[in-house]
Amino acid sequence: MSIDYSEKIPNNVDLSGNKTLQRALEHWQPHFLDWWREMGPNDFASSDVYLRTAVGVDAQGWASYGAVKMPDYRWGIFLADAIPDRRIGFGDSVGEPVWQQVPGEFRSQFRRLIVTQGDTEPASVEQQHLLGHTCPSLYDLRNLFQVNVEEGRHLWAMVYLLHAHFGRDGREEAEELLARHSGDADKPRILGTFNEPISDWLSFFCFTYFTDRDGKFQLKSLAESSFDPLARTCRFMLTEEAHHMFVGETGISRVVKRTLEVMKQLGTDEVQALRGQGVVDLPLLQRYLNFWFSSSLDLFGSEVSSNAASSFANGIKGRPDETTQYQDHVCADATYELTTPDGKGGLKQETVNLRNAMNEVLREAYVRDCEIGLKRWNMQIQKAGCDFRLKLPATRFRRSIGVWADVPTDPEGRIIAREEHARRLPEWLPTPADRAYVMSLMQRVTAPGKMAGWLAPPDRGINNLGLDYEYVRLG
Ligand SMILES: [Fe+2]
Ligand SMILES: [Fe+2]
Repeated sequence: MSIDYSEKIPNNVDLSGNKTLQRALEHWQPHFLDWWREMGPNDFASSDVYLRTAVGVDAQGWASYGAVKMPDYRWGIFLADAIPDRRIGFGDSVGEPVWQQVPGEFRSQFRRLIVTQGDTEPASVEQQHLLGHTCPSLYDLRNLFQVNVEEGRHLWAMVYLLHAHFGRDGREEAEELLARHSGDADKPRILGTFNEPISDWLSFFCFTYFTDRDGKFQLKSLAESSFDPLARTCRFMLTEEAHHMFVGETGISRVVKRTLEVMKQLGTDEVQALRGQGVVDLPLLQRYLNFWFSSSLDLFGSEVSSNAASSFANGIKGRPDETTQYQDHVCADATYELTTPDGKGGLKQETVNLRNAMNEVLREAYVRDCEIGLKRWNMQIQKAGCDFRLKLPATRFRRSIGVWADVPTDPEGRIIAREEHARRLPEWLPTPADRAYVMSLMQRVTAPGKMAGWLAPPDRGINNLGLDYEYVRLG
């Protein structure tokens, strides 16, 4: 079904065919716009931004580019096309037809999942509220805003499900999604990572690389859901999400490239010399990677989880690529081997039911995906003749959730004394001096084609346009 843009809320869900739902969402819309004006990108409401907007959900149709003022962006409700005769792909009811309505017995589980996913979308916009002021180029500024408007649309995607399928509870939850705010002392966002401030662009690139990638894996497992509207919503969100991770991967790659250039010019990797030239030394980048990776790992939840088991059993949340990657879709008797801390400074082996380990299965898939970018960046570093290598810390490092929560380990995952851990943390995580240095680099660059000195230009512009294109016309 094509997207109807003549309506107040663009959609491909035949919204005009359900007047009650349409009215309810049209009532929520001004609340969303108020939230955007207050909590969205600060100060750029009158700028023309070269944005892509979805005009259809098929491979070609969904990206149409043009200059838009962000408050006029057409946020809407887009579901990927239905798969005819789709069947439940995993869990106890495998093979039965998928559900078009939420079964009553799973209602609260679904509601919690949708609210938790929905909460992350506006949270990230809030985290990036002030970033535009220190953009390293117009190209980057445009990418930030593209990510922001799409996270706004992802909120719409979840709010649609809440309104359409959860009655009054759903409408209340939709209001709450605008009432919680990232980092708010009284009403914070639900998940920890989404309350961390993103006040510099190095953090933004790490966030889009690591945290948006958590989003990718959550969406991939929800795209397997037996509740078909949720699956279709998530499938379409994934197409948008890919760009966010591209921004992160290429952003970090450009930081690395620029640093290597300056290392070559100076003939040294000495940190103070590099900082004197205003670039990000690689050990500093490593500490930022450690921070955002470990923070994002917690988003997958506990290694052993009865919640994850019942989500899988009930067909609510599958594994990423459930249909193509696995033979056994029921996992009733399968087990999973887990290494956990024994509480006495050592390790123990545990065998758990695979269903209970689904969070860990998802986290492993995520970590493998994170490795891809590391390989590319290290290739750049190697080609430049430099011995330094970036690496992901162990999944045990700096965890706040699960069996490794509060267990002092080094980035290799070795359990160490608490005292040594505290003493060595500044080697592993950004220090206040690191953060202050990064902030000192955050100088706004807005001449078309110009780049801040701490990152290299991208390989190409947006949608085949040149690098000197005026991607944001500041108003
Ligand atoms: Fe999103
Ligand atoms: Fe995203």
